[in-house]
Amino acid sequence: MNRIVLITGASRGLGLCLTKRYLIEGATVLAGVRDLTASFINELKTEYPDALIPVLLEVADTESVNQAAELVKGYTDHIDIVVNNAAICGKKRFLALDRKEKEERVNEEAIGDSEAC
Ligand SMILES: NC(=O)c1ccc[n+]([C@@H]2O[C@H](COP(=O)([O-])OP(=O)(O)OC[C@H]3O[C@@H](n4cnc5c(N)ncnc54)[C@H](OP(=O)(O)O)[C@@H]3O)[C@@H](O)[C@H]2O)c1
Repeated sequence: MNRIVLITGASRGLGLCLTKRYLIEGATVLAGVRDLTASFINELKTEYPDALIPVLLEVADTESVNQAAELVKGYTDHIDIVVNNAAICGKKRFLALDRKEKEERVNEEAIGDSEAC
């Protein structure tokens, strides 16, 4: 597969699994993470020095999204697949959250994810 894939929330969970899967299949992966120094990124980068491109991306922060977009534009003029996966996968139902938690959830999963697209 010679595709270019952007995955948000690539540091763990489903995002990390998909990142590894696409790399194994031969894709170039732009991996959105909040910590570029994380050990898993360095390990994967050693294994896939050309195909893995870590991108600093906090989806709840418009400035971070814009900076990530500029960085991505420097690598490629198109993206074949976007997996907008970053989110808080909390156990609490939305109605059980307090106001601050609700604001964080909406900011991240609704506003942030739509801006990342
Ligand atoms: N697992 C399930 O059973 C399930 C079921 C239905 C839907 N989903 C959805 O599938 C997605 C992934 O689930 P998961 O279980 O893999 O979740 P997870 O293990 O909690 O991983 C969440 C990922 O999103 C990142 N992230 C969280 N907030 C972020 C933000 N504001 N900006 C950038 N990255 C952010 C985390 O990065 P950090 O490492 O920096 O925190 C992490 O990489 C979520 O959208 C979730 O709602 C999951």
